[in-house]
Amino acid sequence: MPFKENFVWGTATAAYQIEGGASQDGRGPTVWDDFSHTTGKTRFGDHGDQACDSYNRLDEDLEILKTLGVKAYRFSICWTRILPEGTGKVNPLGLKYYDRLIDRLLASKIIPFVTIFHWDYPLELYYQGGWLNAKSPQWFAEYVRVLVDHFSDRVQYWITQNEPQCYIGLGHELGRHAPGLQLPRKQVIRAWHHNLIAHGLSVEVIRENAKLKPYIGIVSCGGSPIPLTDRREDREAALKAMFNQKDGERLNLSHGDLLDPVVLGKYPDRLVPFLPAGYEKEMAIITQPLDYIGLNLYSGFHVKYDEKEGYLREAEPVGKEETSMEWKVEPKCLYWTPKMVIDRYQLPVYITENGMANNDWVALDGQVHDPQRIDFIKRYLKELLKLADEGYQNKLAGYFYWSLLDNFEWALGYTKRFGLVHVDFTTLKRTMKDSAYYYQKLIASNGELLNAER
Ligand code: NOJ
Repeated sequence: MPFKENFVWGTATAAYQIEGGASQDGRGPTVWDDFSHTTGKTRFGDHGDQACDSYNRLDEDLEILKTLGVKAYRFSICWTRILPEGTGKVNPLGLKYYDRLIDRLLASKIIPFVTIFHWDYPLELYYQGGWLNAKSPQWFAEYVRVLVDHFSDRVQYWITQNEPQCYIGLGHELGRHAPGLQLPRKQVIRAWHHNLIAHGLSVEVIRENAKLKPYIGIVSCGGSPIPLTDRREDREAALKAMFNQKDGERLNLSHGDLLDPVVLGKYPDRLVPFLPAGYEKEMAIITQPLDYIGLNLYSGFHVKYDEKEGYLREAEPVGKEETSMEWKVEPKCLYWTPKMVIDRYQLPVYITENGMANNDWVALDGQVHDPQRIDFIKRYLKELLKLADEGYQNKLAGYFYWSLLDNFEWALGYTKRFGLVHVDFTTLKRTMKDSAYYYQKLIASNGELLNAER
């Protein structure tokens, strides 16, 4: 069975990774500006001051989206372009930038998928405690209210948050991402809990105030366990690894840690001892009806049944293929994770990110040849198609390639190129890679091309 008729083909980006214009038109500072300008925090001291300069090259980037033929574009709004201090005064120039983006997308029949928070937290609010402050959900709700009042006459698809697991885990537990904290577990989980309340409140704000019917989701990430064999025990072991993971030294926040409270109204047992007193009262806010779940999937690992431990992670074969992020190439994550998530939560799923970083450069012929990325896209999407084939067609809503452009890969700076489009970070010249032309054909065929290549 092919993908459903209105399957959404898209590509994704995030504000801090592409926009640049860090001090243009009244944008306020974020934790990522601060972190990336702190010595030793990012590779080569890279930062997002200019990034791909999409803030000033919107027209060019929109033309590329049109050429690709995407049905949707997932981008994020920079909170401090709208509210430079996080709350209070609204910046009309910030609204104007996203007005232009949204209006032009719609004029080109490209659906805007708006990520409300993709990690560029207002620095001013961070000084007041950030997600550790019990008022932080209200601050977020205030921001969301401004967005909904202004954009919901045109925007219908809203993503409240991108990968809270990473923002909280890498940013508050491991200190590898902004704001660079290494907090004790109780404080990490406190921030996590506030983050989820913020999600819940924002869903309420959108539903109560949206002018056009809203479709609201949240984007999750985490490990993708894959059963080592087809035996029932191994399948159950993989499910356990996914939703009842063993506690380790690191929190390793998982899909279940986010989606169980948000969709099912219950925190996994392992998190409960660390939650703030009286957390139960807030579950009703956290658990809101959602229209879909977004999954960011890149890699996976194999798991087998073990009598003593419940499940064990299998070592990967020596020399297993990996991308330049050193992430294993594991196409089956696009089969198993959406399957497990759909079975458990009974909601439609968008693959809101999937893609690879590769050592791409412009060849002597002026083109960018990236056969690995084409092969990667084929292998991964064939697994998603297999799932569609097995009765999941209607629950698989869309796929967004990460990313449209090579961009600022957070602590790894500009060293990792995920784009369908190559960016020369000196001249800012964009060059569509071979994979961009492949993706264009794939979209035009609604994925049928994958069948031809089976
Ligand atoms: C997840 C994040 O949402 C995105 O910002 C990042 O660039 C990609 N994955 C690749 O690491």
